[in-house]
Amino acid sequence: MSTPQRLQKVLASAGVASRRHSEDLILDGRVTVNGTVIRELGAKADPLLDRIEVDGRPLPKPGDRVYLVLHKPQGYVTTVKDPRRRRTVMDLVAPVPGLHPVGRLDYDTSGLLLLTNDGDFTLAVTHPRFGMAKIYEATLRGRPSELALQKLREGITLDDGPTQPAEVVRLGHEGSSTHVQVSIHEGRNRQVRRMFEAIGHPVLRLKRTAVGPVKLGNLDPGQVRHLSPKEIETLFRLARNEDQA
Ligand code: URA
Repeated sequence: MSTPQRLQKVLASAGVASRRHSEDLILDGRVTVNGTVIRELGAKADPLLDRIEVDGRPLPKPGDRVYLVLHKPQGYVTTVKDPRRRRTVMDLVAPVPGLHPVGRLDYDTSGLLLLTNDGDFTLAVTHPRFGMAKIYEATLRGRPSELALQKLREGITLDDGPTQPAEVVRLGHEGSSTHVQVSIHEGRNRQVRRMFEAIGHPVLRLKRTAVGPVKLGNLDPGQVRHLSPKEIETLFRLARNEDQA
């Protein structure tokens, strides 16, 4: 038998958002119980008996697979637990059993991070053989020449071996720094930072804006959304190599 619980607890337990973000969802009027918008934080609902929806979508049930997109802010580690007790990305999402980050972003990198409790999904997205495209926006120190950027487009040798060709597009300049967009199909440790370091233009800021077909869009730092069924299906399809990532 189930009992009514505070709505924000029900949302967090279902993997919709962290407890704090769940409160924001309620206050923003994005949550309905049996068709009625609920804006009071004290309201209770029964996860088994009531029809609870966020943005018009029913809550995942216990045991369902969960696929999330987080806009990781700078200053968080991409692990489930940090021995140095720094803040981790898990502090920003709901406490869903088995939920883990898919791949990683450096402590100082922000942007799109996928999380799931589905190991097959993690393998599909991160396996080097599948070569899922990852797109970043980087701010570089200085103004790299076309020749220097061309080296990255052709592939350069780092201390752990040659890189595959990257797509690099110059977006603009600001003072003595340069904005570029870079797309790579590998996921080696600190790869983007090391690539630009190697051509003498270290990365000052780095943000991931897309993984395969999934885009960061206008998600604010710290915010989470569910992947759509179409995004999940496309990622699996790309990994099966039925299309180009
Ligand atoms: N490349 C990097 O250098 N850092 C990241 O966080 C991701 C890709």
